[in-house]
Amino acid sequence: MSEKHSGLNVSVYFGKHLVELANIHEGARVLDVGCGWGASLFPAAQKVGPQGHVTGIEIDEKSVEIVETRFKERGVTNASILLMDAWKMTFDDASFDYVLGGAVIGFLLKEGTQELCPETHRVLKKGGRVGFSTWKTMEDLDWMLESLKMGFPEVPESELSVYSRYSPDVLAAILSQAGFHQITKHTIGTEFLYKDKETWWKDMQLYTWKPFYDKIDARGPGKLEEFKDAAYNSLLDNSHNSDGSYNVTTYFIFGTK
Ligand SMILES: C[S@@+](CC[C@H](N)C(=O)[O-])C[C@H]1O[C@@H](n2cnc3c(N)ncnc32)[C@H](O)[C@@H]1O
Repeated sequence: MSEKHSGLNVSVYFGKHLVELANIHEGARVLDVGCGWGASLFPAAQKVGPQGHVTGIEIDEKSVEIVETRFKERGVTNASILLMDAWKMTFDDASFDYVLGGAVIGFLLKEGTQELCPETHRVLKKGGRVGFSTWKTMEDLDWMLESLKMGFPEVPESELSVYSRYSPDVLAAILSQAGFHQITKHTIGTEFLYKDKETWWKDMQLYTWKPFYDKIDARGPGKLEEFKDAAYNSLLDNSHNSDGSYNVTTYFIFGTK
């Protein structure tokens, strides 16, 4: 918790931890569900080595393009990415030794339930390991949420919240209900630091919040800038070291098929 990661992408930091904690062996076949821009896909590709393979799947076309470009730039030949919906995988049964999913579990639960997408179990080999990470706390987003709540008192918090919180016990129950055993839990937290106000503001451009920023902007000239200043100052005020550093803590959950 004492280490402070300046300018290091939060997803990349936790993606690496997901791969480390999974204990992936050389030569393994790994599936990264909802791999995004490759936070865990790239470290997994290093782990499996030239005899192994990592397949990323993504529902977002832009992410697929970004990862494909990164493969070329980084000369990665033991990984691939497919545009595929996690709920409709086209892989054979028991295709993978590991199934990983970084910050994706919210998309892998049947709506309104704690039922895990059965594909994650089906495509895993018997004895294979599944591993997910999910946010416990993201202080920077929590502070922005507070600012938005003040700006939009009439909007229910559930509409403004951007991430779901699942306790380790709930996560364990989800995996066990999905047929996994030997469940292990980990929690890792660390301090991050925004380089400057503009870097922070760029990170706050989450699609869920964009419509609210537009509404603030429509309130009059300078209103969005005012809001931005107030929100940034609240980050500095709430920061443990008054330097804008903020804590992010993530839960990791693993299970065996
Ligand atoms: C919060 S991001 C996490 C990305 C990456 N795993 C990481 O750790 O940085 C969640 C990702 O899941 C993808 N996703 C959501 N639903 C999906 C689905 N049904 N099938 C495949 N990908 C999905 C989104 O497009 C998004 O890139």
